[in-house]
Amino acid sequence: MDQQKIQIFDTTLRDGEQVPGCKLNTKEKLEVAERLEALGVDVIEAGFPISSPGDFDSVVAIAKLVKNATVCGLSRAVEKDITTAAEAVQYAKKPRIHTGIGTSESHIKYKLNSTQDKILERAVAAVALAKKYVEDVEFYAEDAGRTENEYLARICEAAIKAGATVLNIPDTTGYCLPEEYGAKIKYLAENVKGIHNVTLSTHCHNDLGMATANSIAGVINGATQIECTINGIGERAGNTALEEVVMVLKQHPYLKKTTNIDTKQLNAISRYVSETMRVPVQPNKAIVGANAFAHSSGIHQDGVIKRRDTYEIIDPKEVGVDHSSIVLTARSGRAALAYRLKLIGFELTRDELDIVYADFVKVADEKKEVFDEDLNELASLNHKVAV
Ligand code: KIV
Ligand code: ZN
Repeated sequence: MDQQKIQIFDTTLRDGEQVPGCKLNTKEKLEVAERLEALGVDVIEAGFPISSPGDFDSVVAIAKLVKNATVCGLSRAVEKDITTAAEAVQYAKKPRIHTGIGTSESHIKYKLNSTQDKILERAVAAVALAKKYVEDVEFYAEDAGRTENEYLARICEAAIKAGATVLNIPDTTGYCLPEEYGAKIKYLAENVKGIHNVTLSTHCHNDLGMATANSIAGVINGATQIECTINGIGERAGNTALEEVVMVLKQHPYLKKTTNIDTKQLNAISRYVSETMRVPVQPNKAIVGANAFAHSSGIHQDGVIKRRDTYEIIDPKEVGVDHSSIVLTARSGRAALAYRLKLIGFELTRDELDIVYADFVKVADEKKEVFDEDLNELASLNHKVAV
């Protein structure tokens, strides 16, 4: 069976940009959009045009710049939001309006002070209005993760009838378990009339650390688009990390899902977004963290030096990292020390290595990490032979 193409909808410039303290100017946003397009994303959510004149201008500029990807603008189910989004994305080769409303009991009762029937009417009206401006209309059922499936199915079906081409099922609060989110997608796939003619999309937040697992559960159960951000940045604990879902699908080919992403660009775009948005990446972050391909314990180092895949499931080159690194600490063994010494030109006999190793562990106990300059000194002091 052929691999099924999963669309990657990047919302770094919209949901990602909602990170406190992170503001990009239009020039920076254009650079991010250009890199996202080069990376191979299918959809770029460029912003929320009604939110500020600056965001409106950025969406217009991105719509004019992007050549292949769909350019999407967010709106609430509010007339002025939708017409403003339409105005902003009109310059795109492939424009999309993303509109929607809260559907959970909590949102309907406490945020919108409304009823299920009235919310359904507003959803239909919003999609129908957006459809007057663009062919491609995405409907989001905000807080779908906590919305009962029967009502969710009803509102999704109504949105399709009104012209929606994409249905977005956000786990807005990051509440769902993977089984639960997967079952929700399956329920919609099986119970919403017309759903097979539209794209079903995941949009997961990471409040319980399950955004990636939930997105993957979504595609296993019938979703064909994943909404995500570079480095998983976004509101609160963030969104699904693009690099994670893409690599999960790549590393598990039996799932028979693939994407258009050029994974060799993942490391570079991660650094660019982190630096430009001033949001550091945690060192142990999957795929793009500084330690993602670093080995520091003796047992692991010995394995990796013998054969990389003993402790690495991804070849670092596949995600744009030159090589794995062997970090020297007090937990490192002789194999790692010999390996690093050889890299800087010292090839030692077994006896010589024993002598240098005894000194090395003392230095390593004092310092957190032993660097090449320390190694040089250790090996030279012990009169070792340069290769
Ligand atoms: O998390 C969410 O529900 C959203 C919607 C606005 C799509 O970001
Ligand atoms: Zn979101």
